[in-house]
Amino acid sequence: MEPVSGDLPRKVLVLGGGGREHAIVRALQRSPARPELWAAPGNPGIARDGVHCAAVDPLDGDAVVALVERAGIEFVVVGPEAPLVAGIADRLAAAGVRCLGPSQEAARVEGSKLAAKQLMAEAGVATAAYRVLESREQALAALAELDYPAVFKADVLAAGKGVVVAADETEARAAIDAYFVERRFGETAVLLEEFLVGDELSLLCLCDGERALPLAPARDYKRLRDGDEGPNTGGMGSYSPVGEVDSELVAEIVATIHQPIVDALRERGTPYHGVLYGGLMLTADGPRVLEFNCRFGDPETQALLPRLRSDLLELLWRASFAGGLDGASCEFADDAAVCVVLAASGYPEAPRRGDPIAGIEAAERTGALVFHAGTAERDGQFVTAGGRVINVVGTGPDLAAAREAAYRAADLVEFDGKQLRRDIAAGRS
Ligand code: AMP
Ligand code: GLY
Repeated sequence: MEPVSGDLPRKVLVLGGGGREHAIVRALQRSPARPELWAAPGNPGIARDGVHCAAVDPLDGDAVVALVERAGIEFVVVGPEAPLVAGIADRLAAAGVRCLGPSQEAARVEGSKLAAKQLMAEAGVATAAYRVLESREQALAALAELDYPAVFKADVLAAGKGVVVAADETEARAAIDAYFVERRFGETAVLLEEFLVGDELSLLCLCDGERALPLAPARDYKRLRDGDEGPNTGGMGSYSPVGEVDSELVAEIVATIHQPIVDALRERGTPYHGVLYGGLMLTADGPRVLEFNCRFGDPETQALLPRLRSDLLELLWRASFAGGLDGASCEFADDAAVCVVLAASGYPEAPRRGDPIAGIEAAERTGALVFHAGTAERDGQFVTAGGRVINVVGTGPDLAAAREAAYRAADLVEFDGKQLRRDIAAGRS
């Protein structure tokens, strides 16, 4: 790579405390610059890796800035979307600290589905056709001419829960009541979207305000149960690479989707710095955007970063400068990685907390990676403390080997009511 814009930061803070952040921390620890790492709030697995964990809420801008000043942090990597949508990047910029993650205005690619649609129209990016429903009456009137499945999306940040794919009129009516009568997502408009058919793909790009540099393609599994049954979740597993998505297709997607968005935001005067996550449907008519996220994917990151051969710290740092990624490359190993999420009993509706977790070390001894997501430590024992508890990542020369390694290790981690999908990366090559 070409020289870096300024020296690499020596003290780095990662905001968040899930499996994604654990994977980010591990990759930053591989940086030759050997930065001192902090996390807020982090988790017990991150702490065990020697990272300073501070009990600070990433959504509390004042507390984050105070921590940054107290600890002499030079660079902040923001894991989750909520602090970005709430403007943490702007707060840090005002405090003179660089950050990986877009400004509040640019984070609207994720924060508002309607704003994202308008931006895509402006940038000429292909996405599902849609209309806006402002009221129950309008929604009921739309029912008359609806084809099924029909896709409804609340125009708010709802961790994936604001989306309903209705199979028939009964489900559509239930969705309309949830949005407009129960107001489950508050006073929000709802998008009614064309249903797209195809395979989903997550393609994440690092953006420096001017250029979009792709990471390897990845795929995640959003439904709770095998065969894509059951409720939507935050993600039950992931894998990378994606065999049918070769470098030509990646280049085409970046040229027609990510780069036009980066260009449009630069022209608007709100340049995009950070990870631009394209959630795509590979349709018969070409790739279409389902959604954008303004940060690393969870659990895609857990399968992506173990394969990264470039220095993550350098890449993220360069992305925070206008044009900083000029001449940068993002190299991945030829091997494959499969991430299996172990979720708590009751996930996603009401995950149970406090179940003792055994077998983490045995899983690690197999050579698999174990990332903590929703865990806590109680009397020296790890216990469940969130919906997605542990992420186990297997690697190998191909997906079949990585898959076997992931499940061998996943079966060694035990807790009451453990839920996992058995079909992550199954039948894929
Ligand atoms: P989103 O949060 O917008 O990515 O939606 C969550 C999930 O709903 C996606 O990962 C898809 O599986 C599904 N979905 C969303 N929009 C559509 C669409 N227009 N057509 C088909 N499936 C969709
Ligand atoms: N894996 C889906 C997401 O990160 O939003």
